Amino acid sequence: MWKGRFSEETSDVVRSFTQSLDIDWCLAECDIQGSIAHALALAKAGLISPGESVAIREGLMRILAEIRSGEFIPSADLEDVHMNIEHRLTELIGSAGARLHTGRSRNDQVATTMRLFLRNRLLSLGDGMLRLLDALLGAARKHRECIVPGYTHLQQAQPITLGHYWMAHFAAFRRDLERLLFALDSMTECPLGAGALAGSTLPLDRECAAALLGFSGPTDNSLDSVGQRDYIFNYHSFAAMFAVHASRLSEDLVLYSSQEFGWILLPDAFCTGSSMMPQKKNPDVLELIRGKTGQVIGHLLDLLVSLKGLPMTYDRDLQEDKRGMESSLAVVESVLAVLPPLLSAVEVDRERAVRGMSDGFVLATDVAEYLVQRGIPFRDAHWKVGRIVRDCLEKRKTLFDLTCEDWKSLLPEAGDDLAGILSLRASVERRTTFGGTAPEEVAQRISDGEKSLFEYGRALESHRKAHSTAGELLCSSKPA
Ligand code: ARG
Repeated sequence: MWKGRFSEETSDVVRSFTQSLDIDWCLAECDIQGSIAHALALAKAGLISPGESVAIREGLMRILAEIRSGEFIPSADLEDVHMNIEHRLTELIGSAGARLHTGRSRNDQVATTMRLFLRNRLLSLGDGMLRLLDALLGAARKHRECIVPGYTHLQQAQPITLGHYWMAHFAAFRRDLERLLFALDSMTECPLGAGALAGSTLPLDRECAAALLGFSGPTDNSLDSVGQRDYIFNYHSFAAMFAVHASRLSEDLVLYSSQEFGWILLPDAFCTGSSMMPQKKNPDVLELIRGKTGQVIGHLLDLLVSLKGLPMTYDRDLQEDKRGMESSLAVVESVLAVLPPLLSAVEVDRERAVRGMSDGFVLATDVAEYLVQRGIPFRDAHWKVGRIVRDCLEKRKTLFDLTCEDWKSLLPEAGDDLAGILSLRASVERRTTFGGTAPEEVAQRISDGEKSLFEYGRALESHRKAHSTAGELLCSSKPA
């Protein structure tokens, strides 16, 4: 490709060191879309003839068929997917093929291809996120009234509803979906026409190429277009935070399903056994979700570290951006395939969930707040109830063992209505502050959540519509 300038053949070890075919062959279809759009835009600008544009398109469609059938065996000697396709095109159609690269560099070509590729994968990840959020809404509906211990510092704190707990994860994953949509929004402009770095002396029609590929328009700085990768970072930022959220949820379920907690019941179909210990039922899926998170975080760091010292604009280091991206995508896709059906099948041992709170101390805050409503300063109330808990602990009694008389002598400020708040059910039902754990409040948040899923679905649809414009370039019925 650059033979003109060189007096020696590239050494074999350099060829193999610099090739990127092992990480960019998966971009082949997107590269062909980009090339068809580029050829059409070149013809529109009068830079190639309409006949050449048709020949290029037909040649590329034939190459696409060869790739899809597995007949096309790319060669790493041709460095990357882009050179392999261009080389084959010239083999097939001769001189018209040699005109395809007019006004284009692999720098803007790869930047365009990557956006097309990532847009497509993000769309299906978006669908996966919707399925995950939907599974959480379903679990929250099912367990809206179910009482379980709520923890801080992993110490029992206050009773909560399991529905509220599921909705907490819904809230986090919803923000992840927003990050995903932000990532999609960050790749709506088309780098094609930025050239190697500075644009072109040729009268390229950048708007035309952008529109054909379903972009909102061309990127507005050629240096930025080929030299930056923050749109890929936006993917990693979604992926890493999503993986961390999935990992924390997994850790909870591993813990709550262990014998010592024991109130979360994992579906057999999502657990595995032991080769030695017949009694074992292990939460391997959840452990692996947790275990794969490090890779996803690592790929985010990998990209940032690669970028941090790079001079503007394109540097060959950028070729490596694909490796971590593809590996991260594979992990996130696998998590999104397994987590929603697992969550939908989780059951609860309701009796065991409350049994763990049988000492009643999780109601201590309720008693203190009851005293506040009877005019006692909160600090005093806190001290008084703390003293009662300590007393109970010393006498090996539970809060429920205290009789009306006990309460009267311990808390002369309390009235007869104190008894009414001394239950786990009353405790959760009375936490009706906005965003609180009361079942009626959770019901509201579930209904808000359902509405938001509809909105997210629409946002994804509009990106999908744009993306299908590029897909149409590969339909043989579409006229040039
Ligand atoms: N395989 C390269 C990449 O993925 C293509 C761009 C090469 N550009 C260059 N100036 N050598 O980044």
